Amino acid sequence: MCLSIAFSRSMTASAACASITVGIALVVMSITVRAQQEIGRRVFEEKCAVCHGAKGDGGAGPALVPLSHDDRTLLQIVRNGGAQMPPFSSTAMTDADVRAVGEYLRTLSAGRGAAVPAAGVPAAAEVAAQPQPLKPEERWIPVTDAMLANPDPSEWLNWRRTLDGQGYSPLDQITVQNVRNLKLEWSWGMDVGASQTTPLVHNSVLYIASPGNVVHALDGRTGQLRWEYRRENPDPLAQMRNLAIYQDLVYLNTGDGHIVALDARTGAVRWDTEIRGNDKKFRFTSGPIVADGVVIAGLTGCGTFAEDTCYIVAVDGRTGKELWRTSTVARAGEPGDETWTGQPLMFRAGGDAWIPGSYDPERKVV
Ligand code: HEC
Repeated sequence: MCLSIAFSRSMTASAACASITVGIALVVMSITVRAQQEIGRRVFEEKCAVCHGAKGDGGAGPALVPLSHDDRTLLQIVRNGGAQMPPFSSTAMTDADVRAVGEYLRTLSAGRGAAVPAAGVPAAAEVAAQPQPLKPEERWIPVTDAMLANPDPSEWLNWRRTLDGQGYSPLDQITVQNVRNLKLEWSWGMDVGASQTTPLVHNSVLYIASPGNVVHALDGRTGQLRWEYRRENPDPLAQMRNLAIYQDLVYLNTGDGHIVALDARTGAVRWDTEIRGNDKKFRFTSGPIVADGVVIAGLTGCGTFAEDTCYIVAVDGRTGKELWRTSTVARAGEPGDETWTGQPLMFRAGGDAWIPGSYDPERKVV
């Protein structure tokens, strides 16, 4: 398998993505063309007219009528932005909205010279964006402790592959001699924002955390979207460095300090536990690890004055019930308390624990 992820702002890979349309079923559009033009007008007036003119005749930005782009190119421009044009993420504007804007601009272009038609779309990005959750009859083997301790080389079950965080793949099919022959099979445009994420792979499904606490489950072979989870989050740029997987659940830590368990087959939320304490600035930027069925994660954003400290927290992987929490700075009465010379909690800060840890299952040490 050969795959590539199109990282946030580099949408060039999405163009390649658009070319792998072979054999994918057409999506039946449920809205009429006229309704689409109406949506397009509304979206255009709200998001684009300020720079491109009320009727697309131009202003601070160039005239867009007659339209000289097909839907695919228009989508790329809108997602990427330009030197003076802001990028619009799929949260700000859905693919369908962009298509509707294209349809509207084509209406305005009528009698104004040759507008480029929607042209040959469905693009792969568009078709793949219709999720196909795993069906009950599809093979899906739950992840066990034994699998985490000794992962199948063809899978990637932990952010650093093994519990000891080694990050080494024993696969040997790709060598220094043949690496140059790798070709792009498919790509996937992530949401816009900072990203340092590591995907997981299990049962041929690739799970990836996009900026804004968005999770995508993709078919590893085709790039077909299986499901999407999109958190209602005041910070659309919240980044998440990794996910964790155990049994039939995928774990996401969030920018608003929760741990969320998603059904690995459908993306449905199984449980959602608030972790951060009294301070709303505490948050997660990294995902958890799983140690004998226990989900363990460290908070960050701890360098602020607050009536609380940051923690490393453990919750039951199955239920989300909190099992324990350890403060990352000494609180009154805890070992090291004396080093704070009696300072009140408000002035005991720091101790960010944002690196997902590693686990020794023999000694049971995190
Ligand atoms: C803040 C101003 C601004 C907004 C808002 C804006 N644009 Fe732009 N757009 C520009 C500018 C300026 C350019 C020229 C390229 C550049 O400098 O970024 C441009 C370029 C483009 C182009 C390429 C034009 C060409 O001739 O090839 C397209 C297409 C486009 N914008 C579509 C849109 C759409 C659709 C929206 C609304 C979703 C939008 N823009 C919102 C300022 C804006």
